[in-house]
Amino acid sequence: MAGKSILETAVIVNTRVVAERTYISTIRSPQIAPIVEAGQFVMASFQNTLDPLLPRAFSVCDVMDDTLSLLYVAVGRGTKKISGLLPGEKLILNGPLGTGFPRMERGQNIWIAVGGSGAAIVPILSRSAVRAGSRLRFFYGARSKSQLVPFEISSDIAYSTDDGTAGFHGNVVGNLKQELKQAEPDMLFGCGPTPMLVSMQKEFGDKIPTYLSVETPMACGMGFCQGCPVKKRGDASYYLACKDGPVFRSTDIEFEVKP
Ligand SMILES: Cc1cc2nc3c(=O)[nH]c(=O)nc-3n(C[C@H](O)[C@H](O)[C@H](O)COP(=O)(O)OP(=O)(O)OC[C@H]3O[C@@H](n4cnc5c(N)ncnc54)[C@H](O)[C@@H]3O)c2cc1C
Ligand code: FES
Repeated sequence: MAGKSILETAVIVNTRVVAERTYISTIRSPQIAPIVEAGQFVMASFQNTLDPLLPRAFSVCDVMDDTLSLLYVAVGRGTKKISGLLPGEKLILNGPLGTGFPRMERGQNIWIAVGGSGAAIVPILSRSAVRAGSRLRFFYGARSKSQLVPFEISSDIAYSTDDGTAGFHGNVVGNLKQELKQAEPDMLFGCGPTPMLVSMQKEFGDKIPTYLSVETPMACGMGFCQGCPVKKRGDASYYLACKDGPVFRSTDIEFEVKP
């Protein structure tokens, strides 16, 4: 559940390359780290510069004592700049923001599909599941094996790659469809590129309780700029991804996919 967010000058502890163009930065953030829930995010910006002008949103990947980690694919200005910060350098974080995944109950079976930078939620969800006593199974898809992050977690991970270099040959939703012929989870979560979420909504959204974390671009992250609309299902009005989400029940939203 979203609470009050904190603006904190956080300190880079270390940054490591974990897959092709993919990094995990561990950041000392004693005020934000202890209160983050799985699926929440932070807005990150740089000290003493307006380059880039807008902060960038990142799902919190994991928390450990007074540190949190962010997993990101270095695609543009913000992520390339974070990957170049040295230990001891500072990053301004605002968070925790947004509403995360629903609370997991003891004994529940939950399947989670992730793709691209959406894989950031794997460690924090896995840690929450251990505390809750629920069983998680991840379905993790990438274009190729070199883009898969080798997570060290207690939950089971089924890999898929578009080029067949690791795991199931095909996309993550195809893999999920196969496995759903054998068993059905109590809940399904998704975090990844919009086409993956659209496909999950279409295939499973009305059959299994499904929760999707949307990647709508954000400018403020706090409900001020109105720049992150997500259409309500069967209604002409909109949610705000940063305040009402980024995790939504699949049956509550419509994706407005451009043709
Ligand atoms: C709630 C939320 C959580 C997010 N969590 C994460 C996260 O955990 N890790 C993470 O890496 N990102 C995450 N993002 C996306 C993140 O906020 C940035 O948009 C993204 O990292 C690119 O930032 P940039 O400054 O490097 O690129 P920009 O300079 O903003 O963009 C440069 C170019 O890269 C393109 N681009 C943007 N994203 C991608 C991509 N994934 N693959 C290929 N091209 C892309 C843009 O369209 C643009 O053309 C999240 C977004 C939201 C809304
Ligand atoms: S990002 Fe500004 S209102 Fe959501």
